[in-house]
Amino acid sequence: MKKIRIDHNTFIPMPVTLVGTLVDGKPNFMAVGWVSRVNAAPPCIAVSIYKGHYTPVGIEQNSTFSVNFPGTDLLVETDYCGIVSGRKVDKSKIFDLFYGELKTAPMIDQCPLCLECRLVDVHELSTNKLFIGEIVASYTEEKYLTDGQPDYQKMNAMILTMPDNKYRALGAVAGDAWSAGKKMKK
Ligand SMILES: Cc1cc2nc3c(=O)[nH]c(=O)nc-3n(C[C@H](O)[C@H](O)[C@H](O)COP(=O)(O)O)c2cc1C
Repeated sequence: MKKIRIDHNTFIPMPVTLVGTLVDGKPNFMAVGWVSRVNAAPPCIAVSIYKGHYTPVGIEQNSTFSVNFPGTDLLVETDYCGIVSGRKVDKSKIFDLFYGELKTAPMIDQCPLCLECRLVDVHELSTNKLFIGEIVASYTEEKYLTDGQPDYQKMNAMILTMPDNKYRALGAVAGDAWSAGKKMKK
């Protein structure tokens, strides 16, 4: 097929998350799409955050943060956390909160999945800081599990696409990973 060259400032599909921190002791949440699992053992997750945001202040004060996965029912609140800064607006009362073993990573009760992270590394890029956190604990509810594992379909987790800036629900299952390719093995 003939390819056409497009703008190299290209984005890839991303999970929609809310990163929680305590800044000067007060909970703050921001929407984060630039997030990925980055290490197998210990389990680590990385979030890329613009240096000028309020959230990095909290991550660096406590060396902890949370990554919360909202369902589609929290779309409006999630988007709000992505368009106003904790520097100017108090985002501490939007959600019901709970804390885990680290004590300084506020997590959102209304989110089906919450990861509690200890900061293990920071990579400074030109505009963003890449914060790498070890997931020390994960919290969900029985109703979001299938065979004891988190089921993102049950959670109504969202995907973000850019630059059309759309929140998308998960689509249908297309196949089985680590399995479908076996039929090509000799
Ligand atoms: C859906 C969505 C995803 C976003 N993802 C990121 C991201 O990955 N990294 C980032 O630095 N900002 C991201 N933002 C922007 C921040 O969430 C936004 O600037 C926020 O107000 C920062 O909050 P804070 O200053 O309280 O930390 C995103 C915004 C939206 C709406």
